[in-house]
Amino acid sequence: MTTRDVRSPCAPLRAPADTVSGAADTAATPQPALKPVDPNFSSGPCTKFPGWSVDRLVDAALGRSHRAKEPKAKLKAVIDRSKAMLGLPEDWLLGIVPGSDTGAVEMAMWSMLGARPVTILEWESFSKDWATDAIKQLKLNDAQVVKAPYGALPDLSAIDRSHDIVFPFNGTTSGVRVPNMDWVSDAREGIVICDATSAAFAMDMDFSKLDVVTWSWQKVLGSEAAHGMLALSPRAVARLESFEPDRPLPKLFRMTKAGKINSGIFEGATINTPSMLAVEDVLAALDWADSLGGGRALIARAEANFAALDRWVQKTDWIDWLATDPATRSSTSMCLKIVDPAFQQLPADAQAAFCKALVKLVENEGAGFDFNGYRDAPAGLRIWGGATVEASNIEALTPWLEWAFATQSSLTFSPKETAA
Ligand SMILES: Cc1ncc(COP(=O)(O)O)c(C=O)c1O
Repeated sequence: MTTRDVRSPCAPLRAPADTVSGAADTAATPQPALKPVDPNFSSGPCTKFPGWSVDRLVDAALGRSHRAKEPKAKLKAVIDRSKAMLGLPEDWLLGIVPGSDTGAVEMAMWSMLGARPVTILEWESFSKDWATDAIKQLKLNDAQVVKAPYGALPDLSAIDRSHDIVFPFNGTTSGVRVPNMDWVSDAREGIVICDATSAAFAMDMDFSKLDVVTWSWQKVLGSEAAHGMLALSPRAVARLESFEPDRPLPKLFRMTKAGKINSGIFEGATINTPSMLAVEDVLAALDWADSLGGGRALIARAEANFAALDRWVQKTDWIDWLATDPATRSSTSMCLKIVDPAFQQLPADAQAAFCKALVKLVENEGAGFDFNGYRDAPAGLRIWGGATVEASNIEALTPWLEWAFATQSSLTFSPKETAA
């Protein structure tokens, strides 16, 4: 029997026979009989809510002007109903903006930053993007990036309260969330810009500590991707009306007219043309959420998904949470690392190939899709637990993970040559 170098891109996933021993017993882990009813575990677009079908979109205002009365009322309904479901304070503004969550975050950064020093908290890929925006694109003179590696949170106690802050409520690519907002001072002087796209509707958020909150429809609500949601506190509006950044602002980012907030944006008069099909889809998701009992029910569903996966992680010796502190473990982007000693000995690219192959085994059986870890994160799995996912489907996925791990291990870690 021959073995090949796992570091070669064309080599099968097989480690040198004399370096590692077998990690799992395939005979003891047969292929499961039952599959998840819904095998979609992607972190975005996320699975549709249970019972969704295209029939839910028949009332879409297609082929009509989005400025006409009925279509505009639908846009306004998305705003009003989202605001109510999240419990956003009455005096906040909420608008539908272009460019999904990225559009909403960058609108805020480009329009508001530079008035005072800013701290950007970076602990995974999207927060890294916001740090790059601040340093390399906006070229802010007074920007400080406070970092932590994948699996951890930066030191939140070290933030100067005179600074603006940019951070993700939940770091989707590491599965690390802030546990609460206690680290922001009530007497803060700056504004707090929070990218909440994988947290809004799934996690409790203390809006008294936030000034800009953004999200997109395809995440926790599982609706069609298109637009961003941008929520502004009165302090954020005051910043917009008092600060004119010394940089060109494209029309897509402009939220003020003659120094005053353009209130139309926050009443459904979008800056440019929205997708009325996507609008109908998010309204259907809000109907579904209402039928369950609203925002609290959505949060409870994400928490039940976390509990279901956690029960399995706690009793499975080859897997663990990537987030080291239990208080920071995400209930939406549930990121796991493989802690099996044989796997740990593989070089990083072979670990990534192992995880990719493991996911492929499950995908080939139609038992679970799109749950490989994010490309820039350490090799592992990322299983979405947002509100549209049913806990029973997470429970049905885990035997498939065990089967796929055992199968992939037997392909990767061959028995020692001497055994032949
Ligand atoms: C934390 C975070 N920020 C930003 C984005 C980008 O979102 P969008 O594709 O809606 O622009 C994502 C997408 O997964 C995300 O998870």
